[in-house]
Amino acid sequence: MPAPRGKRAKTAPRPKHIGFGKLIIFGEHFVVHNQRPALVGALEAYSFCNVELSDPEVWSTGLIVVDEREAVPGYKNEKKDEMLESTKLVLKHFGVDCEKRAVKVHFGGPLCAVSGVGASAASCVALARALNTALGKNMTEEEINNAAFEGEKGYHGTPSGIDNTAATYGGLLRFQRSASGGSPIFEPQKLDTPCLVVYASTGITSSTTEVVGDVRKKKEADPLWYEGLQTKYDDVYNRGLAALKAGKMDEVGKICNENHALLQELGVSCKELDDLVSLAREAGAAGAKLAGTGRGGLMFAVCVDEDSQQKVYDALAKVAPQCWMTKFC
Ligand code: MEV
Repeated sequence: MPAPRGKRAKTAPRPKHIGFGKLIIFGEHFVVHNQRPALVGALEAYSFCNVELSDPEVWSTGLIVVDEREAVPGYKNEKKDEMLESTKLVLKHFGVDCEKRAVKVHFGGPLCAVSGVGASAASCVALARALNTALGKNMTEEEINNAAFEGEKGYHGTPSGIDNTAATYGGLLRFQRSASGGSPIFEPQKLDTPCLVVYASTGITSSTTEVVGDVRKKKEADPLWYEGLQTKYDDVYNRGLAALKAGKMDEVGKICNENHALLQELGVSCKELDDLVSLAREAGAAGAKLAGTGRGGLMFAVCVDEDSQQKVYDALAKVAPQCWMTKFC
């Protein structure tokens, strides 16, 4: 029987070596310390990687990285050194020495590289998958995730691992660092009611190293202050996850607002993020917060239905350099 025609647009098959982008719904920064839980939603958008390795018997050395990912202006240039360092760390993890062997790494894919979206983790995971194939290693997903985690250290010294875990496994995940420093604890989540989201970029590329470093300094200078925020965050996280599971998106939005206020107190928001968050709320979002590192990068808004999602998108798209819609389920 001939296949039915014209009913559904065909989506291009995904390449083999990919890593997903992500939005942290609850828990950026808090997830780095004291094994606090966080909730992360992987995006459908991904980065891919292909790797060419010279024959070990052929006398040829050096590393070439071709970066053809879509990106916000300035992002690739600002992250160039970190991206090279991260690529070298993943290669080292695989035992590939560019002093002894020529390596060509090619990144691309529909995920727009922007601070907050987990672009670095997506490319580390894609690279780990490409090296796994090129070296015929047959690694498990856990091993891919661990290899990408090594690469993430090139972007900032002390990653929690949440970004690379979302980039490896996809979907909606509850994530927590392990106390021993070993493999993280994570658990896929399923929502009966999809959570409709609009996310927008400030156009500002932020430094995760710097922002995470500042939070650590503040935490060490005033442990009681940090503990107070962390206690409030625990409550936000527990109520937020319960509201999401109950499909109460109005409530989820309000809890996102509370999480944003905690991140402001932590000192990781900025005027550009606060303005987009306020605009989204005025346009009818149930609530909004920054997502990821902060001090630039991204924010997202939770919407109760598709009408409101479109209105919030239209309002943000007028002022934000980049704006997208997605849903988590
Ligand atoms: C960055 O996407 C999220 C942070 O919490 C850092 C981390 O978890 O590694 C700011």
